[in-house]
Amino acid sequence: MGLDWIASPSTSLRGTLDVPGDKSVSHRAIMFAALADGVSRIEGFLEGEDTRATAAIFRQLGVRIETASDGVRIVHGVGIDGLQASNAPLDCGNAGTGMRLLTGVLAGQRFDCVLIGDESLSRRPMRRVIDPLSRMGARIEANEGGLPPLRVHGNHVLQGIDYTTEVASAQVKSAILLAGLYAHGDTTVREPHPTRDYTERMLAAFGWPIEFAPGFARLSGGHRLRATDVHVPADFSSAAFFIVAATLVPGSELRLQRVGMNPRRTGLLHVLRAMGADIVEQNPSEQGGEPVADLVIRHAALHGIEVPVEHVPDMIDEFPALFVAATCAQGATIVRGAAELRVKESDRIATMATGLRALGISVDETPDGATIHGGRVHGGRIDSHGDHRIAMAFAIAAQLADGEVRIGDVSNVATSFPGFDALARAAGMNVKPFD
Ligand code: S3P
Repeated sequence: MGLDWIASPSTSLRGTLDVPGDKSVSHRAIMFAALADGVSRIEGFLEGEDTRATAAIFRQLGVRIETASDGVRIVHGVGIDGLQASNAPLDCGNAGTGMRLLTGVLAGQRFDCVLIGDESLSRRPMRRVIDPLSRMGARIEANEGGLPPLRVHGNHVLQGIDYTTEVASAQVKSAILLAGLYAHGDTTVREPHPTRDYTERMLAAFGWPIEFAPGFARLSGGHRLRATDVHVPADFSSAAFFIVAATLVPGSELRLQRVGMNPRRTGLLHVLRAMGADIVEQNPSEQGGEPVADLVIRHAALHGIEVPVEHVPDMIDEFPALFVAATCAQGATIVRGAAELRVKESDRIATMATGLRALGISVDETPDGATIHGGRVHGGRIDSHGDHRIAMAFAIAAQLADGEVRIGDVSNVATSFPGFDALARAAGMNVKPFD
C-alpha cells in the first residue's frame, strides 16, 4: 500500500533551493479570492493535494478558478454571498485547515453541505470548531466524538460571539472569524497563546475591516471583500526540513530563497539557534505583505535544550524536524506543552518516538511532549502513518544514519511538499522511491 522511500547517509548538502509556496496562505488565498468581488490572481500557489482540494471545493461551489500555469490561479470571485450549493460531498482530502476553515464559511450559507476527508482527517477533532460555531447559531452534525464527516446546515442566522479559544489554534480562530463575516454584530477571538495570523492579514488585504494584535482579533459582519492579487511566500514549514538537514550533515552549506518569515511561524529558528545552529537571514524584504528572507544554513554541532513553551505554537508543524535535530544533539532535548501534536495528521509524539526508537534513539514520551536523548542513528524501517511531515523528518534522520532507512507510506508528502524527494536529491541528500 502506498509509496515507500529508501533514504541513506549523505556527505553534505549544498546549493540554492526554492521550496514550494506556503500551505496556510494558499488555502486562504483561494477562499478569500473566491468570496471577493472581482478577479484575483494568486502567484506561488502551493500545487499540493491539500490546497488543490480546497480549490476543487470552491469550483464545486460555483467559482471559476483557472490554472494559468504551475503555481498560478486566476480566481473569478462570486462575492461574499455568491456560492452555490453542491449535491456532492466536499472532499477536503488530508487537510485539517481546509475542513475547519470551510466549516466557518459554510455555516454562513443558505444551503446545506457535507464535508468529508481521508482516513487521517476523519480521525481529527472537529468539536473545537463545532462548539463555538454552534454558539454563534450554526447547525453542524458530526459523527460520534465530533469527527468528520460534517453536515453543515445553511439558513441559520449567525450572531457574533466573544470567544476565548481553549487550545492555541489558528484553524479554530479562523473558522470563527470566517463565520463572523456572515454574523450580525462583532465577532471577537482571544487566544491563550498567539497563533499564525494569515486570516486576519489577508482579510485586511481584501478590504474587510478587522482589528487584530497577537492573541486577539475582532471583525463585524456585513462588509464585502475586494479582489486582490496574492503573492504566496515559500513555506517555512517545508524549508524547516532543509534547515535541519543542512545543520546536521557535516560540510553542508545551503541557501533557501525567499522563505516566509512571519514571526508566528519561525519558532524553530529560535530553538535551533539556542541549540547551536548557524542560520543567517539575508535580503529581508516583503512579499505580498508577508516578511520573507533568504536563509543560509551551515553545518553546526547542536546541544540539547528544554524548548521554551512559549515557542510551541510558533513551531507547531516543525516538531518532527526538531525531534530529528534533537536526535543528533549532544544531551537531552525536552519538549513540553505540545499536546496538540497528538491530534495532527498523526499522533506526532507517538509516531516520532516509535520511529526514532526503531533507529536506536532513546525517547521518553509524556502526554504533552517527549525527552529525546541524542545518540547514534542506525538504519531501520519506519512507518510514517501516512503523515507527510513524519516521512520527511525521517528522510532527514537517514542522512545521519549508519545504514539504510526505509520509510513506509510516503504518498501524503504530496499534500504539502510535492517534489520533496527530487529537491532533496538536488541538494545532495540520498532519498529515493523504493521499487
Ligand atoms: C494551520 C494551523 C495549524 C497548523 C496547520 C495549518 C493553518 O493548525 O498545524 O498545519 O493554516 O491555520 P492549528 O491551528 O490547529 O494548530
